[in-house]
Amino acid sequence: MFFSDIHNHLLYNTDDGAKSFDEMVKMVSAAYNGGTRLICATPHFAPSDFGNNSLNAESAFNELSAYCKENYKDLTLLLGNELFCDGNEVQWLKEGYCRTLNNTRYVLAEYPFPEKEKVIIKSLDAILCAGYVPIIAHAERYNNLSLEAIRRLKENGVLLQMNVKNYKTLDIGLNLRIKRLLSNRLVDFISSDAHNLLTRPPLMGEYYEKISQKYGASYAENIFCTNAKRLLTEEK
Ligand SMILES: [Fe+2]
Repeated sequence: MFFSDIHNHLLYNTDDGAKSFDEMVKMVSAAYNGGTRLICATPHFAPSDFGNNSLNAESAFNELSAYCKENYKDLTLLLGNELFCDGNEVQWLKEGYCRTLNNTRYVLAEYPFPEKEKVIIKSLDAILCAGYVPIIAHAERYNNLSLEAIRRLKENGVLLQMNVKNYKTLDIGLNLRIKRLLSNRLVDFISSDAHNLLTRPPLMGEYYEKISQKYGASYAENIFCTNAKRLLTEEK
């Protein structure tokens, strides 16, 4: 089995992820050697923090695509954004400033934290109403989002992404939320949210076996691999 990573900041000169071409290719190499065969690059779309980084993202993506065609022929590389939702998210999507994941209807959406539950719900509803499917980035982080609210959001079509590195967090609250989400099978994607090689690396496999043993092999395969491949590449 291979891993699919739909949340990754490896495009250099774009956000707070990779700082150079060299770091970017080292990140892709680490991901590939760790068993990842699908990466959707998701530079932050947060104009207040990173300005208009769309051209830089496209240019780094083209360089990385060319590099992967030479060196990692069986790696699927896609482009998207991680949309920072501060009230302008629907406008940014509709006007084409912010990318969806691989030009599908799926949008990786993040919120400031702490953020009020009602603000998150209102934003997700607005994204749904505009015809997109929001995927809550690192959904385990939002301590104001109750399990009941998450269940309702999922009934309406919202999907959840979890950062693999958080699986062994020492934060008791975070740990509890992760256990709740996984045991209720509410997570749809596990990703790296990689920003660099050391502190936030692009590795997916560290907890795969543990999660597979605890929550079931078929569920683990779906959230580590199949869901992303199916929704981002086969549904188009
Ligand atoms: Fe991220």
